[in-house]
Amino acid sequence: MAWSLRTLPTLTEDQFLQWGKLLEERTGIQLVFQQKAWLESQMTSRMRDHGNEDYDAYFDFISKETIEAKLEWSRLIDRIAVKETSFFRHRESIEYVRNYLQQKINNQALNNSFDIWSLGCATGEEAYSLAMVVNDCFELAAISPYYGITAMDISSSALAAGRKGRYSKRRVEQVKPDEAQRYLQVCTDGSYEVVNKLRDRVCFTHTNIIHARQLPVVQVDVIFCQNLLVYFRRWLRRDVLNALVERLKPGGLLVVGLGEVVDWEHPEMQRTGDDHVQAYVREER
Ligand SMILES: C[S@@+](CC[C@H](N)C(=O)[O-])C[C@H]1O[C@@H](n2cnc3c(N)ncnc32)[C@H](O)[C@@H]1O
Repeated sequence: MAWSLRTLPTLTEDQFLQWGKLLEERTGIQLVFQQKAWLESQMTSRMRDHGNEDYDAYFDFISKETIEAKLEWSRLIDRIAVKETSFFRHRESIEYVRNYLQQKINNQALNNSFDIWSLGCATGEEAYSLAMVVNDCFELAAISPYYGITAMDISSSALAAGRKGRYSKRRVEQVKPDEAQRYLQVCTDGSYEVVNKLRDRVCFTHTNIIHARQLPVVQVDVIFCQNLLVYFRRWLRRDVLNALVERLKPGGLLVVGLGEVVDWEHPEMQRTGDDHVQAYVREER
């Protein structure tokens, strides 16, 4: 019988647990049982493309250490990872970065460069929103130091969309008209493309954040990580954050999603005063 006519196989509870364990071990993403039907539909769609008839055979294939298995895993992650995002998704947090940079400029405390990481950047809207406010600050101050945003995600398809930098009209709704005028151009098909001067500043790179300790210890000014840690267990959130601290410059800023981290403290990090933004500054040495 053709695949499309077959009824979807049902994941047994044991299979759900087995897949959930694999997903969490490899990505940190924790599934809850209520997501079983959704997981089934994502997986059967991949299994259909891949030609696997049942979950166990697919599991055996994907557990292998071959290139083919790794490629298929990457395609499955593209389907399973929640990539919901938008420009200025939490405007207060992005504006907080603007104020932070503005103060540095005002106090002449800027180093040679200004580097930002956008972790779990999905399709790039967050990274481009950050690029807009940074560019605004430098244009206003009429200075042009180097700045760059490294946008990282585990989903290859999300990264590819980010690199393209093209978004439908609906997806740019949160960009204010004056920002859109400066930083987006309308394409012939009615979509919007981020202007080159911002795209040139954003570098998209495949990263699995659960291995944050293996990220280069390069010392950046701002680490922006929202709506990613929420999928992880609490100990893993803390572990990732501790690793990120070591990658911040003294005085560097860490911004997470409001309420995403409740029980984390670090001797070198000071929570900042704003109730609407969850941010921490690394102590100056
Ligand atoms: C809900 S989106 C958040 C996007 C953006 N930060 C925002 O707040 O709008 C979460 C992103 O985290 C990515 N992600 C999930 N697990 C990851 C991991 N272990 N390492 C890197 N990225 C991961 C997903 O692929 C997805 O694009």
